[in-house]
Amino acid sequence: MNTTTRRPLIAGNWKMNLDHLQSIAFLQKLEWALKDANHDYGAVEVAVFPPFTDLRSVQTLVSADKYEIAFGGQDLSAHDSGAYTGEISGAFLSALGAGYVIIGHSERRQYHGETDELVAAKVAAAHKHGLVPVICVGETAEDLEEHGPSAVPVAQLRTALGGAEQGKEVVVAYEPVWAIGSGQAATAEQAEQVCAALRPVVAELLGEEAGESTRVLYGGSVKSGNIAGFMRQPNVDGALVGGASLQLEEFSAIVRYQKHVV
Ligand code: PGA
Repeated sequence: MNTTTRRPLIAGNWKMNLDHLQSIAFLQKLEWALKDANHDYGAVEVAVFPPFTDLRSVQTLVSADKYEIAFGGQDLSAHDSGAYTGEISGAFLSALGAGYVIIGHSERRQYHGETDELVAAKVAAAHKHGLVPVICVGETAEDLEEHGPSAVPVAQLRTALGGAEQGKEVVVAYEPVWAIGSGQAATAEQAEQVCAALRPVVAELLGEEAGESTRVLYGGSVKSGNIAGFMRQPNVDGALVGGASLQLEEFSAIVRYQKHVV
């Protein structure tokens, strides 16, 4: 079990699922389920990442009913404002009360051609607008075969952190591409190996203290049945959950992993 002072973070990446009405219904049920279970948000932070069109509704619900659930965007523009049709500024996310923003998810890298350099520019934009970037890194199956498990994520993180401002918080998410949506999660030992290799990169580029305090998440086919194994690893501080974050019982069981860590 992780014995550091880092507050674990369980983050639900809804991807392109749930419209604004569905998102409100889901979030209400999630909050009720966690309240029923006496979830201690101080012990395990919970964040959700809805589609952009849901964010205003989510914000309204969260602030009206004083939810302790954090929320963020799934992406942001590297630019502040201007003629960038279809883009969303970090300033807009910040104005909506978003605390976080996912950057460099493998689906953005794969389908939208996002490079490590663009990811770095987006990290800079997130910090500029007061958002905590959740920086996603991870190797493909081919990378794994060719370079081993940590070389590619380490290189991706090194470039991405080039955009980070000293003294500002980042979250790192290690998501092996082969494990995302495949039902085939990495083993807890594999996750630990790479997360343990990523932490020194944070320390090197953002300082020793950041290396200690930065939360490094694992993502890729996380479910209630495997979360405890990941959370037992000393360098895994939470999870970025895709598919299972859309299933109420699964996601609340993942959030409450401490109840089933043996
Ligand atoms: P998954 O997705 O949990 O469905 O594998 C994780 C992610 O893409 O963040």
